Amino acid sequence: MTALPTRTLGPLTSSAVAFGAMVLSPGVYGETDERRATAALRAALDEGATHIDTADGYGPDGHNERLIGAALKGRRDEVVIATKFGFRLPDGVEPHPFPVNYGFGELAVNADPRHVRGYAEASLRTLRTDRIDLYYPHYPDPQIPFEDTVGAVADLIGPGLVRHLGLSNVTADQLRRAHAVHPVAAVQVQWSMWQPVDAELLAVARELGVGIVAWGPLGTGFLTGTVAEVAENDLRRHLPRFDAANLKANRDRFAPVRAIADDLGISSGQLALSWLLHQYAHVVPIPGSRTPAHIAENLAAARIALSADTLARVDTALKATAFEGKAAVVD
Ligand SMILES: NC(=O)c1ccc[n+]([C@@H]2O[C@H](COP(=O)([O-])OP(=O)(O)OC[C@H]3O[C@@H](n4cnc5c(N)ncnc54)[C@H](OP(=O)(O)O)[C@@H]3O)[C@@H](O)[C@H]2O)c1
Repeated sequence: MTALPTRTLGPLTSSAVAFGAMVLSPGVYGETDERRATAALRAALDEGATHIDTADGYGPDGHNERLIGAALKGRRDEVVIATKFGFRLPDGVEPHPFPVNYGFGELAVNADPRHVRGYAEASLRTLRTDRIDLYYPHYPDPQIPFEDTVGAVADLIGPGLVRHLGLSNVTADQLRRAHAVHPVAAVQVQWSMWQPVDAELLAVARELGVGIVAWGPLGTGFLTGTVAEVAENDLRRHLPRFDAANLKANRDRFAPVRAIADDLGISSGQLALSWLLHQYAHVVPIPGSRTPAHIAENLAAARIALSADTLARVDTALKATAFEGKAAVVD
């Protein structure tokens, strides 16, 4: 295994770039299958990822967690397993609407504390492990006081089912309130060159010593510069920035950033990941991929240092770029 530089997320240590496994389940970003998904997970481990991000809601019936449980056989102690709950609901759990900006209109969530232990026990079974290293409510449930959800996760830490509390898709205020209930190790938010992080959330994370796990760090693939069209079976069909006309305009507008990557002799995806790493000492991007060569390329970004001049060039190019369509899932 190749060792990568590390970062801390509160008390947890992670490779500076980790691996997001969502893309390995069917119905996400194009074709995949069991063999390809398993090869991708092994490549991530072999290239030095020590943190794998999943959720009970990725793929049908715990599909994504099951893949990870199988691929980690004999290698469990090499990684931080991060998973999330309360977004794809088992039978008998009442859906609570959660509005999002995607074409779907709204998601169904349920983070009622009465269900949290059951969610965790199901994830432990599918992941074939005795502990979840980092456990997140996937979205805050609008019908449940957030402190109650957080308290239910904290209750799993004493008995050892969960090691650390994470939060996902939260506001600065929710982070502060949660941290008062139990120390938060990391907040997971959408953050990339084309979707800035909420400045207030970042400020509170800095103040409280909370890590940030950046989801969608490659702009769901766009920032690699390789997405020219989106297939029928690809979730990005629902994302405004990937609408055919917007995609073309956005590719043209991203050309100045691609040119900077070319000058540096790195890929634009690597520039996007390295740029993120330079924004905060405790941010860990979790790019996802089904392709071993892409995974190696992404993880290698953990070793790329950008000069102050390069960072200024990138920021100038980004400031001059207004992308077409909304990228934020949650306002
Ligand atoms: N908390 C939340 O609500 C939330 C929401 C969404 C995602 N997430 C997490 O964040 C992780 C990452 O986000 P994401 O998957 O949405 O987006 P992403 O990592 O920004 O992009 C993934 C896409 O980029 C492509 N890609 C990756 N590396 C590439 C490379 N080097 N060259 C060319 N294409 C490349 C992948 O295709 P290939 O397979 O072809 O490489 C895939 O289509 C997910 O896996 C999930 O764990 C969390």
